[in-house]
Amino acid sequence: MTALVTGPTSGIGAAFARALAARGEDLVLVARDAARLEEAAAQLSAEHGVAVETLVADLAARDDVLRVAARLEDDARPVDMLVNNAGFGLRAGLLEPDWSVHEKALDVMCLAVLVLGGAAGRAMRARGRGAIVNISSLAGWIAQGNYSPVKAWVRSYSEGLAVELHGTGVGVTAVCPGWVKTEFHERAGIRTSSIPAFVWVDADRMVANALRDIDRGKLISIPAKRWKVAAFLARHAPRGAILWVSRLLTSSRK
Ligand SMILES: NC(=O)c1ccc[n+]([C@@H]2O[C@H](COP(=O)([O-])OP(=O)(O)OC[C@H]3O[C@@H](n4cnc5c(N)ncnc54)[C@H](OP(=O)(O)O)[C@@H]3O)[C@@H](O)[C@H]2O)c1
Repeated sequence: MTALVTGPTSGIGAAFARALAARGEDLVLVARDAARLEEAAAQLSAEHGVAVETLVADLAARDDVLRVAARLEDDARPVDMLVNNAGFGLRAGLLEPDWSVHEKALDVMCLAVLVLGGAAGRAMRARGRGAIVNISSLAGWIAQGNYSPVKAWVRSYSEGLAVELHGTGVGVTAVCPGWVKTEFHERAGIRTSSIPAFVWVDADRMVANALRDIDRGKLISIPAKRWKVAAFLARHAPRGAILWVSRLLTSSRK
């Protein structure tokens, strides 16, 4: 079995790569930083005895996305699981005159997810098996700048993909984590000091829970009990209350 993981050099993607390698799966690792990719590949193959291939690609660049898509459709080297994980946090507001970071977010976290999901879906459907995992977020149920719409899109896209792949043997899961200590917040310049300690969950634990849901064929995975409570409230509380919480969270980041 082979899994392709985007963004495996840090955080949630690295935890997916470790967990899948520990299950004996060969890996294809995709990210921008070649040195970090090589380091991760060497460590994973030494620790778990699996074959690890690396693909240096910027998922904001169309040609790079097409190269990764071609790898997913290479029948001679089948990929059984795609983890569409690469992404980043967004601190920029919606009124910022420079909207380049929003464009990049849509390219990396929506367009690349769609192109890679389509490529994997075609190849897996032809083989009658496979799994496509898209990393969404609890943020997709609230209203924070462009990040919430992006992650709501990932969840909604996963539902559409699951509808199109129904009965083909290919599973689709949107994983919706809450708060995970990774490089995400620091890279985006988001302060974490006001976020209460009890909402954070360790990446390895979160991924173990997510893999259980993926193996069971769950479409939406909320991979921690405390986040399930938050998701329930976000889905069922009056929308005005959710917008009030969203305002608090947005202003705490400034
Ligand atoms: N951390 C959280 O609290 C949290 C919560 C909910 C959802 N998420 C989601 O989880 C996913 C992973 O985030 P994380 O927290 O693990 O962040 P992270 O530690 O910053 O890792 C991000 C990974 O994505 C890669 N990446 C970023 N931009 C890329 C690009 N243009 N092309 C290719 N690879 C790229 C990075 O590698 P390179 O820099 O080498 O390219 C890195 O491997 C994201 O989709 C994020 O939105 C995170």
